[in-house]
Amino acid sequence: MSDETTTKPDEAAQAPAPSSMKMPPHPKAVAMITGASSGIGKALALKFGREGYDVAMLARRPGPLADAAAQVRDYGAEVWEFPVDITDRDAFAKVFDDLLAKTGGRLDVFVANAGIGPATPAKAFDLEAAQQTIDLNCSAFVQGIAMAMRPLRKIGRGHLVAISSLAAFRGIRKSAVYCASKALESAFMESLRLDLRGTDIHCLTVHPGYVDTPIHDEKTKKKLPHLVPAATAADLIYKGIETRANEVNFPAPLVAMARLGQMLPNALFDRFS
Ligand SMILES: NC(=O)c1ccc[n+]([C@@H]2O[C@H](COP(=O)([O-])OP(=O)(O)OC[C@H]3O[C@@H](n4cnc5c(N)ncnc54)[C@H](OP(=O)(O)O)[C@@H]3O)[C@@H](O)[C@H]2O)c1
Repeated sequence: MSDETTTKPDEAAQAPAPSSMKMPPHPKAVAMITGASSGIGKALALKFGREGYDVAMLARRPGPLADAAAQVRDYGAEVWEFPVDITDRDAFAKVFDDLLAKTGGRLDVFVANAGIGPATPAKAFDLEAAQQTIDLNCSAFVQGIAMAMRPLRKIGRGHLVAISSLAAFRGIRKSAVYCASKALESAFMESLRLDLRGTDIHCLTVHPGYVDTPIHDEKTKKKLPHLVPAATAADLIYKGIETRANEVNFPAPLVAMARLGQMLPNALFDRFS
């Protein structure tokens, strides 16, 4: 945990407008979430809305995005919807420009959440699925964090949040690309955290186990141990932001297993995997 104090939405509202922006800074704290049309991203958007933030929501499918946005508006939040494929680099960059123009340069929290996890078994390796996973979980992930850092550094404060996975800790069968992509996210965030030490920009990496979202089909969900509701995941992540934690890992039994897995020598790890 960091030893610095929490940026509350009302404190953040005092943030000065970056000099390059013509509009005054937006009066309420602004959270921007990728992959906000379903699952963890949608649950987080709802949580931010309930907590008094205005929210920028990004995802490809306009219908589910509009439904999710309407639910966040019910809490009185201003919501900006961006139907966009964030693997389109120019389109993703334009969303940042558009949002910052609307908020007078204000951004308080950026959540890099959008991710996919198709199986990539070695014996029937799907290179197309692998490339799509890398494009989203790695390239768009890095672009999002890099672009969010610009307004945060101008303002001098804020939160960068990555929704990684316990899959970052060690390899999992049939998941070579997903595990590798999540390991990139976690290592990337750890390095940024070191670079940003001593500033008021906080890096939070989230390592969930299994969360009840559409990323899992209904048949698979029945077999998943310690499945966490998406709303519970969102509450834990929000608390991590508020307390300026640098990691949020859950649920405890799967975290313990993952940590144990990290300590096992390969011979033992392979036998139990
Ligand atoms: N659920 C779990 O058990 C679990 C565990 C550990 C980590 N995670 C991580 O949590 C994050 C969220 O996953 P989830 O479980 O909430 O899954 P989800 O419900 O499938 O949500 C994924 C979100 O990403 C969006 N998305 C996918 N491709 C996109 C693209 N190219 N451009 C923009 N948005 C895109 C989807 O919306 P559109 O389809 O509308 O674009 C959707 O809103 C992922 O990074 C995942 O790896 C999940």
